[in-house]
Amino acid sequence: MTTQDAKVIVCCAEKGGVGKTTCAVSLATSLHALGLSGLLVDLDPQANSTAWLTGEYADTGARLYESLDGGQLPVDKTNYGIYIAPSGRRMSGAEPLLQSKPMGFVCLRQALQEARGEFDVILIDTPPSLGQLVVAALVAATHVILPVRPDGFSLDAVEKTLTTCRSVKAQLNPQLEILGTVVLDYHKSQVISRHLLALLEDIEGLNVLEPYIQTDIAFRNANMHRIPLEFHEPTSRGNLNFRALAKHLSETMALEVTP
Ligand SMILES: Nc1ncnc2c1ncn2[C@@H]1O[C@H](COP(=O)(O)OP(=O)(O)OP(=O)(O)O)[C@@H](O)[C@H]1O
Ligand SMILES: [Mg+2]
Repeated sequence: MTTQDAKVIVCCAEKGGVGKTTCAVSLATSLHALGLSGLLVDLDPQANSTAWLTGEYADTGARLYESLDGGQLPVDKTNYGIYIAPSGRRMSGAEPLLQSKPMGFVCLRQALQEARGEFDVILIDTPPSLGQLVVAALVAATHVILPVRPDGFSLDAVEKTLTTCRSVKAQLNPQLEILGTVVLDYHKSQVISRHLLALLEDIEGLNVLEPYIQTDIAFRNANMHRIPLEFHEPTSRGNLNFRALAKHLSETMALEVTP
């Protein structure tokens, strides 16, 4: 479809291992399966999204780093119809780079400006801790989702991350829409999954997105083979959950999809 200004969706959690990368990669491929053009920007120096979509950790992340310093955003083609701005070790220098600039939090928004005219959606994968890069991602974003999985620390992280999102919205990016939390690793017969849902409902103003993403070993198989789930096991439960979530989000964000 012809692009308007891309919706920029950041996957954000102030904790490791909760599903940020899984959400970024699976939503990018599921939204693409709906007919939307997509770019994934991997801000995490661990470069897991990059490896998942390119099959390797070959990029140094230097081009993405330089784009935060006024250079051109790298936009590389993947084998899966979507594009990637790849990360790598050099991106571990991005925190001090942004801190050294008086308005470091706007660097990513500026770097993405051109790409926003070229894609329907831009997904941003973020590192697990709160720092300048995550703030810059929230400033560049139009929408944010907060992955959570059934454990207490992950729940604590949702509350903290929500507070961060709300303060960035209040002070730096009034247009930011907090879409809500994506529940991963959900198992309806497990007490802990039901308990998580009850506790999430108690968090004031937090939207719990549906469908939940069920526990599925297919995610680990797919990242082990470094092939997105949409291509590795398209009919797996986890992938079907993500396709339905992508459909729901595309409607929420008023994105036109080709039938
Ligand atoms: N629904 C699910 N069922 C089973 N495993 C899952 C599910 N969702 C995610 N996982 C697994 O959980 C692990 C952590 O996920 P992921 O790498 O996306 O987290 P992350 O928040 O990006 O971590 P980090 O902070 O280290 O970047 C991965 O091995 C992933 O395959
Ligand atoms: Mg990750």
